[in-house]
Amino acid sequence: MDIRPYQADDRELCLDIMRGNTPEFFAPEELAEFAEFLDDPGEYFVVEEDGRTLACGGWAIKPDGTASLCWGMVVHTHHRRGIGSYLFRERMRLIREDGTASAVKLVTSQHSRPFYERLGFTVTGIRPEGFAPGLDAVDMRWDRPVS
Ligand SMILES: CC(C)(COP(=O)(O)OP(=O)(O)OC[C@H]1O[C@@H](n2cnc3c(N)ncnc32)[C@H](O)[C@@H]1OP(=O)(O)O)[C@@H](O)C(=O)NCCC(=O)NCCS
Repeated sequence: MDIRPYQADDRELCLDIMRGNTPEFFAPEELAEFAEFLDDPGEYFVVEEDGRTLACGGWAIKPDGTASLCWGMVVHTHHRRGIGSYLFRERMRLIREDGTASAVKLVTSQHSRPFYERLGFTVTGIRPEGFAPGLDAVDMRWDRPVS
């Protein structure tokens, strides 16, 4: 597996990854939000293996100095094969290389919360149905040192 920066011609594949994870992990109305995000994604990356795009995800430094992991997702048929863990490790490596983040946070649904807990995140808040009906917004923070 390799990770590389997102390019404009990755757009449709990334939108397809999201469609495949909808409505289980994303609300249908989030697709337009993700499409708009991809117009100017900042630090955003794709994971490939043998020329196939398997995952995408990024991060952004927020005004409070924390890094926020954003729009991380794996091709639905390829869940539970270690790809999400690889994407996470690589994003953490890039955040460390950047060197400006004081902490790492993310917002996910109740369905991906256990995945991030296993990686060392703790829940700092839950907004019931914060994303959409049936999809809670779970705020999480990485408890370990960033560097
Ligand atoms: C969350 C997500 C990125 C995890 O990716 P993945 O490639 O399936 O994860 P991995 O295979 O690296 O899993 C690592 C471990 O976590 C476990 N795990 C993965 N997803 C899990 C889940 N939803 N609940 C509980 N455990 C989970 C795996 O079983 C694995 O355990 P093991 O080490 O004992 O084998 C993936 O489910 C996904 O893309 N979800 C849709 C998008 C999403 O919700 N993104 C969240 C941020 S917006």
